[in-house]
Amino acid sequence: MPVDLSLPAPACGTTVCVTGAGGFIASWLVKLLLEKGYTVRGTVRNPADVKNNHLRELEGADERLILCKADLLDYESLFQAINGCDGVFHTASPVTDDPEQMVEPAVKGTNNVIHACAEAKVKRVVFTSSIGTVYMNPSRDPDAVVDDSCWSDLDFCKHTKNWYCYGKTVAEQTAWKVAKEKGVDLVVINPMLVVGPLLQSTVNASTVHILKYLTGSAKTYANSVQGYVHVKDVALAHLLVYEAPSASGRYIVADSMLHRGEVVAILAKFFPEYPIPLKCSDEVNPRKQPYKFTTQKIKELGLEFTPVKQCLYDTVKSLQDKGILPKPKMHHDDEPVNIK
Ligand SMILES: NC(=O)c1ccc[n+]([C@@H]2O[C@H](COP(=O)([O-])OP(=O)(O)OC[C@H]3O[C@@H](n4cnc5c(N)ncnc54)[C@H](OP(=O)(O)O)[C@@H]3O)[C@@H](O)[C@H]2O)c1
Repeated sequence: MPVDLSLPAPACGTTVCVTGAGGFIASWLVKLLLEKGYTVRGTVRNPADVKNNHLRELEGADERLILCKADLLDYESLFQAINGCDGVFHTASPVTDDPEQMVEPAVKGTNNVIHACAEAKVKRVVFTSSIGTVYMNPSRDPDAVVDDSCWSDLDFCKHTKNWYCYGKTVAEQTAWKVAKEKGVDLVVINPMLVVGPLLQSTVNASTVHILKYLTGSAKTYANSVQGYVHVKDVALAHLLVYEAPSASGRYIVADSMLHRGEVVAILAKFFPEYPIPLKCSDEVNPRKQPYKFTTQKIKELGLEFTPVKQCLYDTVKSLQDKGILPKPKMHHDDEPVNIK
């Protein structure tokens, strides 16, 4: 049965932990959890770092947010944060294609978190995985619908040097293995590329994906396709699978897929003042086609996705509002914009 997100604070007295609380997705998750009445222990590597200040400004933070110092590679620090929590949202992970920085923290960190959850007898763990653990498989039938039963091929990730997908895939496999061995109730969210308004002051990797088309740093766009999802929807998906007793397995979250050519066309329509590239870097090969995928499972729990055009619009507005992207001179703040 879908969870009614409009219900007032049913979660008073429930304590949950969010790892990597200052990150793009985690900040939204902390915000929603606080709004619903949860007490939140957010792990950050350095609570004194000003980049975590936005968390302290969230509604309810004064009363119900505790920032705990923890590193993914330090079991004891994770256990201290997790022990005493009803639930854990494990979102912390490097987001990079550098194998040295990516693989060990993602895999060992996930192993540490699930072990700590087992030791602390946490009731449910929600792990933020990625679509990168699902679709990277050269043997996949291009016409088949990608769903939660699909897994990326580790050799293919390695050979294509896609260390982010490699690290996340091994991390998710580790999570399932340890959860099974230790009897931990694990549910996994597999988001496609996450965009939308930033709560934090720093710019995360998936926001750079859009920002580079507005600053003039990308002169062309790639012959490539990508699924997009609003950051608030991703946070809601975490909450839904945590709260729904029936939730289990993996949940792909995305609104829709776009070719990069479509992304830049949408950006250019909404924000024509920026130097948005309208030329593809690959004029030889046929235009890449999107694959089919299903998000039926999460929709059945009540999630409605924000349309992709709105996702892109909200991202740019947020970058402007935060002063990360200069507003063009001819910008009129109050002008109504037709998102359709
Ligand atoms: N954004 C996307 O498009 C997307 C799509 C699919 C899945 N995901 C997944 O969603 C999660 C959050 O990603 P995001 O986009 O929100 O990225 P983000 O803003 O870069 O957040 C990542 C968080 O992980 C923390 N972290 C990294 N290494 C750590 C370590 N060794 N110990 C403790 N904390 C560590 C970072 O802390 P510091 O601030 O201290 O560095 C940061 O808070 C990740 O698991 C990512 O794989 C993201």
